[in-house]
Amino acid sequence: MTAAHPLRLVLVGRQGAGKGTQCVRVSHRYAIPHISTGDMLRAAVAAGSPFGQLAKSFMDRGELVPDSVINGVIAERLEQPDARLRGFVLDGFPRTKDQAEALNELLSPASLHIVINLEVPVDLVLRRLSSRRVCSVCGSIYSDELPPKTAGICDNCGGELIQREDDTEAAILRRLEIYEETTTPLLGLYADLGLLETVDGIGTPDEVLGRISDVLARHGFSGGG
Ligand code: AP5
Repeated sequence: MTAAHPLRLVLVGRQGAGKGTQCVRVSHRYAIPHISTGDMLRAAVAAGSPFGQLAKSFMDRGELVPDSVINGVIAERLEQPDARLRGFVLDGFPRTKDQAEALNELLSPASLHIVINLEVPVDLVLRRLSSRRVCSVCGSIYSDELPPKTAGICDNCGGELIQREDDTEAAILRRLEIYEETTTPLLGLYADLGLLETVDGIGTPDEVLGRISDVLARHGFSGGG
């Protein structure tokens, strides 16, 4: 099977595990859309819509946006032709049992191919998140370990690098707490379905991408780039 066929992939992992960093690379290599609920919500916040204002009130505190809201956002996105034809790599969804059930129903009669759990220990994600900076224009992600060529400026588009509003210590700790309580139970659920693969997220982004590609190759998916 090649990248021309649909690939329906989910990347899970605690905050700062590198989901966003890897999903961008996987999206390019396998020519599938990167669907990030966090990015979609931040775009709504930036647009200043009533929906964005509602989302912001949850995001800034590190709380999850209600399932009913986010399930509707994903349902609309998965109906788009690119996702229907090529599949997707989902970043940040599902995070609750209700969201996993909603995803299952949305995809039926098709289903997910693989769920990859990017495993990085808490002490390392805390170090990564405390220095994370994102491009205010294109969303590219940097940190002390992965710095831009010029401090404060995005390598890709020259945009200004900023700190995410939910990268405060309190919001990071709350997001990690919710992850352990609400999202880790999904790992057991996907393991029981035979869909779960765990990948070590420590190392350079290229090393981690190589491990993800090895897993996908074992499942019959090869990337173009
Ligand atoms: P979201 O944007 O999804 O944020 P998150 O879950 O907190 O995850 P992060 O973006 O913090 O982590 P990441 O794993 O993507 O790490 P990254 O690649 O940036 O969600 C934000 C909010 O939106 C939620 O709190 C919630 O309110 C709401 N929301 C979103 N989805 C929702 C849903 N389904 N239901 C309800 N609410 C929802 O990497 C982290 C850092 O590490 C970066 O600085 C990066 O440069 C660095 N790094 C990455 N890889 C490496 C590496 N290999 N080596 C060294 N450094 C690395």
